[in-house]
Amino acid sequence: MRQKLVAGNWKMHGGLATNQDLLQAIVAGSAVLRGVSVAVFVPYPYLFQAQSILSATPVAWGAQNVSEYPQGAYTGEVSVSMLQDFACRYVLVGHSERRSIYGESDAVVAEKFSLALSSGLLPVLCVGETLSERESGATIQVVSSQIRAVLDKVGVTAFSTAVVAYEPVWAIGTGRTASSEQAQEVHAAIRALIASFDPEVAQKLQILYGGSVKPSNAAELFAMPDIDGGLVGGASLVAADFLAICSAAVC
Ligand code: PGA
Repeated sequence: MRQKLVAGNWKMHGGLATNQDLLQAIVAGSAVLRGVSVAVFVPYPYLFQAQSILSATPVAWGAQNVSEYPQGAYTGEVSVSMLQDFACRYVLVGHSERRSIYGESDAVVAEKFSLALSSGLLPVLCVGETLSERESGATIQVVSSQIRAVLDKVGVTAFSTAVVAYEPVWAIGTGRTASSEQAQEVHAAIRALIASFDPEVAQKLQILYGGSVKPSNAAELFAMPDIDGGLVGGASLVAADFLAICSAAVC
């Protein structure tokens, strides 16, 4: 059985004092949870703080983005080796806010995924359709082509040390969650796509759901057979809510 993973995506929120309280509360509250992995994706400047507070705990941490280049004259960018300096386990690649606001293409996302993986980080590949793509019936096609762009570059075996997060763009930060059936349908399609290349890799792949996950809907989502946890934005900023979501992932 696949272990569930619940990860908080703080986006551009936080500050030294509030982070400390939040991280300590997550450590204390998640210590009693068995059978669920917990992680936080913090803004770059707080990776050091996350490392110092979380190092001796089961809570993992990671960054929300990374450069597609290993090093060089790329002002404002952060490399995989810099993330490794702070012992990140995970890195998000291709979050829809990166794709839509910063114009990251499938090709760039595939580069980031590949570089993260070859450096020993676990990439969390975010995919998802916009509202108009859903309404035109293109959901599976859009999500499949986002995954194919990475598969074509790195091959299916790479997915044995990666995570996929299905995040319908219309559900992110809107309070509008995909129903558990809608999410399950896409998760099953993602797993089937990977299985068409390698059934064993597909069986082990953690596929998270993201998009307005809340304490009130987490249990229903996590009960679906192909939903292996959540990528949580807004609700991950409130310790009690995030911990309630983590508890919903305990089998
Ligand atoms: P949300 O964000 O939970 O606030 O919808 C999820 C995400 O963007 O990862």
